[in-house]
Amino acid sequence: MAYGGRVHELIEGRRSARGYDTTAEISVDDLTSVLDAGRWAPTWGRVQPVRFVVGRRADDTFTGLTETLTRGNAGWAPASAALILVCTAAEPDDEKARTYAAVDVGLAVSQMILQANALGYNAHPMAGFDAETAVRRFAIPDDRRPLVLLGLGALADPEQVATEIRERDERPRTRLPLDEVAFAETWGHPFTSAPRP
Ligand SMILES: Cc1cc2nc3c(=O)[nH]c(=O)nc-3n(C[C@H](O)[C@H](O)[C@H](O)COP(=O)(O)O)c2cc1C
Repeated sequence: MAYGGRVHELIEGRRSARGYDTTAEISVDDLTSVLDAGRWAPTWGRVQPVRFVVGRRADDTFTGLTETLTRGNAGWAPASAALILVCTAAEPDDEKARTYAAVDVGLAVSQMILQANALGYNAHPMAGFDAETAVRRFAIPDDRRPLVLLGLGALADPEQVATEIRERDERPRTRLPLDEVAFAETWGHPFTSAPRP
């Protein structure tokens, strides 16, 4: 299928929302499918460094994960139906392996976000959590480090959401124009105005 400069509706429709329905649940099947989407992400050198700590609302793992949230996220993320802590290899002595262990997390999280959206959930990645608290709480070994906390939730009726959360969710989403980020011939020369053979 040709998209003519547009992107797939799953990508176009994705956003990091905060106004989640505090009563919505996610089934174990759906959650497993999101985890599998992460598991099947590309991985540098087939190392597969990514690990997940998974909580569904009201279970002990979920409660433990909410206790790691920093102030900005504590106001909305506990309304998630599930929280997934995404960890990767620590690799303290190998800069290349450490770098690509982090790239692998990004790819896994991206696939998980799209899978969650395909299933009708919103997904919101967070760096705003206390990694040390998570390490202690879940006995994460020295060879792993938590990098991203992913909230999965069902969008609430905006009328039921606190005003400050609703206003943030309604802000227009923007990105730098393609001309400023994609180059050809030389750095800074827009790909879109390069001559076409
Ligand atoms: C690595 C990473 C960390 C993020 N951490 C947080 C966070 O702690 N809290 C939060 O509300 N959003 C967080 N976000 C979400 C971004 O704020 C969001 O992606 C950005 O504002 C663009 O909005 P969009 O995802 O709706 O396009 C994070 C995103 C990424 C990729």
